[in-house]
Amino acid sequence: MRRVLSVAAMLSLREEARSQNLTVGFVPTMGALHAGHGALIAEAAKRHDVVVVSVFVNPTQFGPNEDFERYPRNLELDEATIASYGGTVMFAPSVAEMYPDGPAATIDVGVIGTVLEGRHRPGHFNGVATVVKRLFDIVQADAAYFGAKDFQQTLVVKAMVAQQELPTQVVVLPTIREHDGLAMSSRNVYLSADARQHATVLYRALCEARNAIEAGERSPTVIEQKMADVLSTVRDAEVDYAVVRDSATLSDIDRLTSGNSVVCLIAAKLGTTRLIDNDVMQIP
Ligand code: PAJ
Repeated sequence: MRRVLSVAAMLSLREEARSQNLTVGFVPTMGALHAGHGALIAEAAKRHDVVVVSVFVNPTQFGPNEDFERYPRNLELDEATIASYGGTVMFAPSVAEMYPDGPAATIDVGVIGTVLEGRHRPGHFNGVATVVKRLFDIVQADAAYFGAKDFQQTLVVKAMVAQQELPTQVVVLPTIREHDGLAMSSRNVYLSADARQHATVLYRALCEARNAIEAGERSPTVIEQKMADVLSTVRDAEVDYAVVRDSATLSDIDRLTSGNSVVCLIAAKLGTTRLIDNDVMQIP
């Protein structure tokens, strides 16, 4: 395991890998690593000689009233986790290294970044796109690995890669869940014991939607109502959205039809913690 803190050192490590004809896989993260990140690292380790995992809590993707300051940080623990899943390099730059001209979002991905999460977190996805572009430029990986857990983020990253014409391949891997269905997230540590129990309601609402669709339901309104009904069983869940959308564009659909790829997406606050989850389905 190598710990790399500067952009210059990362660039020279990249050159070294190139001169040895080694393939490079990349997993961008904000640290506080869990088994969801681990699955991305393990898959990258299967496919590449060098696996770079970045740990960088990116200021430009946090809103003014969000948790940038209190976001969990523990580099020692993250380094051990990266090694245990087969990562070979931890790239943990400072804010000054990443943003020499000061932290600012300079990439705009357009409408894909303004709906759903983007509406509730203005500027968030331009911050994500900006940092991922900078990281891709530094690491110059053959492929980068992202979790389906942050579904809209995967669309934003793909849009940024197309817009900027970057050579890195984007690979999306399935969401890893706790035994009771809750999607793993670095923010789950914020949940109180009560909220942690109630948090499974997002997954239960997604299962309800999946069951309805599998049973033949084709009306988005009915499916959305079913999710809302499940979510309403938990009094302290404050729902931002629970919707069915086209999985390529996130636009509304009138009716689910054969061959459609759709995604059910939920965002809800439990106490002070905001959670998101989703489920992608092909309509048979
Ligand atoms: P972070 O939340 O640390 O997530 C890093 C990567 O791990 C993302 O691709 C995310 O989708 C994935 N991930 C998180 N939880 C997962 C789970 N339960 N199952 C599978 N994958 C999971 O996402 C970010 O950081 C940042 O926005 C980043 C892309 C690093 C840019 O700053």
